Amino acid sequence: MAVGIFDSGLGGLTVLDAVQQRLPDVPFVYLGDSANAPYGVRSPEDIYKLTTTSVQRLFDEGCDLVILACNTASAAALRKMQESWIPKDKRVLGVFVPLIEALTERQWGDNSPPREVAIKHVALFATPATVSSRAFQREFAFRAIGVDVEAQACGGVVDAIEDGDFILAEALVRSHVDALKRKMPTPDAAILGCTHYPLMAEAFQDALGADVAVYSQANLVAESLADYLDRRPEMIGSGTQSAYLTTGDPKKVSARATQFLRRQITFTAA
Ligand code: DGL
Repeated sequence: MAVGIFDSGLGGLTVLDAVQQRLPDVPFVYLGDSANAPYGVRSPEDIYKLTTTSVQRLFDEGCDLVILACNTASAAALRKMQESWIPKDKRVLGVFVPLIEALTERQWGDNSPPREVAIKHVALFATPATVSSRAFQREFAFRAIGVDVEAQACGGVVDAIEDGDFILAEALVRSHVDALKRKMPTPDAAILGCTHYPLMAEAFQDALGADVAVYSQANLVAESLADYLDRRPEMIGSGTQSAYLTTGDPKKVSARATQFLRRQITFTAA
């Protein structure tokens, strides 16, 4: 057994890297569904089907706890999975609640009524499916009042990153930031609401300007997982084997992952 980390492709490696650093003794099984990426242009039904197939694969690998290190899956599929699909002895957690708790100055699980917070104008960069789910806006509304969230669906960025084409990814980031700024000229904060985007964090910060605080999820998810496992240590299970699984071409995916994390990562076929 181990903790499972799932993403549609390589973006979840940004989360994996942070959780491995925060919890060096916990074995993690990573599954990237690169054969079916990007998810962000698919229908919610399709995303649900693909996400449950991959999470089942991680349950079969002996994981009792799976982190959806994918905002698109968290936004489009997690609620339905929690309502009717997840077995009683398993847990599946998403990635955006820890980020929204941080932005709305809340401790883990603080469910008190919404209140005013320091941040007023938030730019959200995410995939088309995440933006159209309005899941971020919903989670904000539960916790804060008077926060204006302007969302930009960043078509093409995930594909370019999966292809290792960083020149195209950077050009797309700049044009999406320009489009956002036409709608919201002076955001206080920007959310990188897709786990692939921290790989382009410099391009986002540069295009947004130094006075915009850019938030991404990896470290916040790592802290919240550490806190969760403190309270529920039995969810780690007893296994010791970490693994990297992909539905894509293991050779290609290993090369990209090694380039992203700047250490040797070897994927095998899922
Ligand atoms: N990393 C996924 C996310 O956080 C990318 C989704 C996609 O494949 O489009 O949304």
